[in-house]
Amino acid sequence: MTHVKKFMIIVGARPNFIKGAPLLQEIAKYQNIKPVLVHTGQHYDYKMSQIFFQELAIPQPDYNLGVGSASHATQTAKIMLALEPVMLEEKPDLVIVVGDVNSTLAGALTAVKLQIPVAHIEAGLRSFDMAMPEEINRRLTDHLSDFLFVSEDIGVKNLSREGIVRNKIYLVGDILIDALQNEKRKVKNGKVKNTKILSKFKLEPKSYAVLTLHRPANVDNPKTLKKLLKIFAIIQKRVPIIFPVHPRTQKKLPPDTGLTCLAPLGYPDFLSLISQAKFVLTDSGGLQTETTFLKIPCLTLRETTEKPLTVEQGTNILCGQNQKKIIQEVDKILNNPLKIIQSPKLWNGKTAQRIVKILNY
Ligand code: UD1
Ligand code: UDP
Repeated sequence: MTHVKKFMIIVGARPNFIKGAPLLQEIAKYQNIKPVLVHTGQHYDYKMSQIFFQELAIPQPDYNLGVGSASHATQTAKIMLALEPVMLEEKPDLVIVVGDVNSTLAGALTAVKLQIPVAHIEAGLRSFDMAMPEEINRRLTDHLSDFLFVSEDIGVKNLSREGIVRNKIYLVGDILIDALQNEKRKVKNGKVKNTKILSKFKLEPKSYAVLTLHRPANVDNPKTLKKLLKIFAIIQKRVPIIFPVHPRTQKKLPPDTGLTCLAPLGYPDFLSLISQAKFVLTDSGGLQTETTFLKIPCLTLRETTEKPLTVEQGTNILCGQNQKKIIQEVDKILNNPLKIIQSPKLWNGKTAQRIVKILNY
């Protein structure tokens, strides 16, 4: 009889669910791997959580820790407190964490303290900005992990520079592209599915911009947020801005922004919206990758990025909160078509396959 290995997969926030979907689909193909899915409850609104389970056919979690929102220390500690008995009970052979959110670090730290090996998907990315909570989570999680699955070349260099031994590092590509490709595979012509989202808001393809915003550095300080809203108002005079609003940001927004504000969207609707946009304004990590793959210009409202490949590919421009730079770049986009570029070689939708093959040693 073959030995059945138990893999515990920990997810907690919107980008974890999207990246977890292709991983769980791949694991399901292996009879000798038993997955145990744990949802920490970091995100809990229907449109930040359950909608992804439904639309991306993610199995219902075996455990939902229901930790909810709190300060960094409290949230991280609550996840660890709730995870420890689950890990002791389930005794997984491996714990898999994804990305750079508090659930990622809490999962990795709880596992190593119990001497359970850890695999980190999306390892090696660095923004070199320790004011970002994600940068802290990335660095610590990488140094706790036994398998570091890196999405782009630079990740290998970053990890080597930090003294992580080469035989723990695996360059496998970006699992977010697997999620995106899975959506494309659902339609025949190899394009992203045209959901009804454009007609719902009476939008013509390439006639609007999409905005997402949720970084504490952009939304938590009312002065900064006001400054950004002023810039968006200038852009909006030339091209309408569609803004699916993250709940963190919703709590800070004034009642009338002048933009078309929507609730957060499910993944098929959101991909449909961005794939037909003229350009994207964002501070999201995932969106920098998705726009590069879809060849949509992206103006990133940050000074740094952990994904320099997206900048090298020519789709992503780092603009910070600089009004002059942002408006200049919008002008360029409206006046010049983007040069068509080749997607990076490992962005072929087979990252989950590579990861599970390596883990099933
Ligand atoms: C978290 C991640 C961030 C990631 C983002 C993806 C950390 C430190 N941050 O940021 O890296 O880019 O998720 O979306 O892990 N809230 C709700 N409903 C929800 C979830 C959150 O109302 O379902 C509100 C709460 O007021 C909460 C705030 O949003 O306090 C922030 O949520 P939190 O999970 O702490 O951080 P995010 O900004 O979502
Ligand atoms: N996304 C979504 N609906 C939205 C906004 C974003 O499905 O209304 C998707 C987006 O395509 C990407 C992921 O959510 O795959 C990014 O999540 P977010 O920006 O919250 O987190 P980050 O990537 O910055 O950690």
